[in-house]
Amino acid sequence: MLSIAVLGSGKGSNFQSILDAIQSGQLNARVVCVLSDAPDAYILQRARDHGIPAEYVDPAPFKTKLDGEAERRTIERLEHYGAQVLVLAGFMRMVKSGLLRAYAGRIINIHPALLPAFPGLASWKQALDYGAKVAGCTVHFVDEGMDTGPIILQRTVPVLDDDTPESLHARIQEQELIAYPLALQWISEGRTTIQNRRVLIRESSAQKVAPDLSGQRVLITAGPTVEDIDPIRFLSNRSSGKMGAALAVAAARRGAQVVLVHGPLKIPVPQQPGIEPVPVRSAQEMYEAVMTRVAGVQMAILCAAVADFTPVVQADRKLKKETDDLACLQLKRTPDILASVGALEKKPFLVGFAAETDSVERNAREKLQRKHCDLLCANDVSEPGSGFDQETNRITIYRKDGQSIPLPLLPKSVAADRILDEALAGIKA
Ligand code: CTP
Repeated sequence: MLSIAVLGSGKGSNFQSILDAIQSGQLNARVVCVLSDAPDAYILQRARDHGIPAEYVDPAPFKTKLDGEAERRTIERLEHYGAQVLVLAGFMRMVKSGLLRAYAGRIINIHPALLPAFPGLASWKQALDYGAKVAGCTVHFVDEGMDTGPIILQRTVPVLDDDTPESLHARIQEQELIAYPLALQWISEGRTTIQNRRVLIRESSAQKVAPDLSGQRVLITAGPTVEDIDPIRFLSNRSSGKMGAALAVAAARRGAQVVLVHGPLKIPVPQQPGIEPVPVRSAQEMYEAVMTRVAGVQMAILCAAVADFTPVVQADRKLKKETDDLACLQLKRTPDILASVGALEKKPFLVGFAAETDSVERNAREKLQRKHCDLLCANDVSEPGSGFDQETNRITIYRKDGQSIPLPLLPKSVAADRILDEALAGIKA
């Protein structure tokens, strides 16, 4: 198991993501100590709260680097705790040659930009001011330069027209929480090799997935639907499509032929062999796309957040507030796609979803029965880290035999595989 030391100056949210990944079994490592150059840094408290040794290392007399006596003492403490890898988590100083020599190729940092663009401070603001269309984060080995070391992993986010530095930073931070534990897991599995500037990642045995869905046709719905009121306005919801896309990618990786019927997604639609994307807009279009494709499908996972109501009349010109009575916008019910598939005589193994804010279990069990599902995946969208537009989800899978399987807070990609495992087991049963 990899022994990690963490060096930070601030609140340590990346340190927290590492702890979470260890706890959920995503990262096979232990944190042996946390060191900080700031005596009151919250990262030290966070470590103590988890029973991890936490120490302040006085950086004097230097303001911007870890050198001299502070460096010597840091190395001494790292060796004392048996750290194999040093992880920088919001550490605001340059590390110098003594530490770089002692931990050659074993110091890792995360930077909130797609390096080599925008090194240094407030890089999300630099990206926004520059007019970049994509931003992201980079996990890299640390060398003598500022944010110049060999790149292990990068994750991207779009820069949106209405982004502020804060909103872009928040989107990048979501990716950081995934990227850091993932890169550390690669290191812990001994899969990284540095070749000049390039970090090569060997395929893991876990990545060589068994093609246990090969020969299966899987239909997945994803994302929101959009119900147009007039050419300008619409009704929709906060679904990003991340969970449905993760399911499609996971099923295709396991050998399935996937039909992905999706509303307008906030993420790129997965384009890869094994996935046939079918873009739709409204609930009615999604219903038609599903019902014309469901025959011959072995598994249907209906994950989309389908609008329950749509305007009775869709105006073909912009409604004006002076002349049109927008206050009495008339709505009608949309078709329930899940229930319609559940009512088919020859129905596929059927997985539904329920995003709830209260009485999760009761609502989930009721939906499972009412819509004739085989499995129902429920999550409490009011819980932090779970639900719309997040990278993670805490799902409980309800089976029609009454059993339930609570999953921990997991990246959606991992939750997707767990759902597929359960569906496959159900098909075979
Ligand atoms: N669903 C569907 N078609 C609809 C509404 C929902 O296929 N018109 C599917 C969703 O894809 C999801 C499941 O039904 O798999 C549950 O969706 P949810 O919105 O939670 O359920 P509703 O039946 O709409 O119940 P309520 O809004 O009362 O919670």
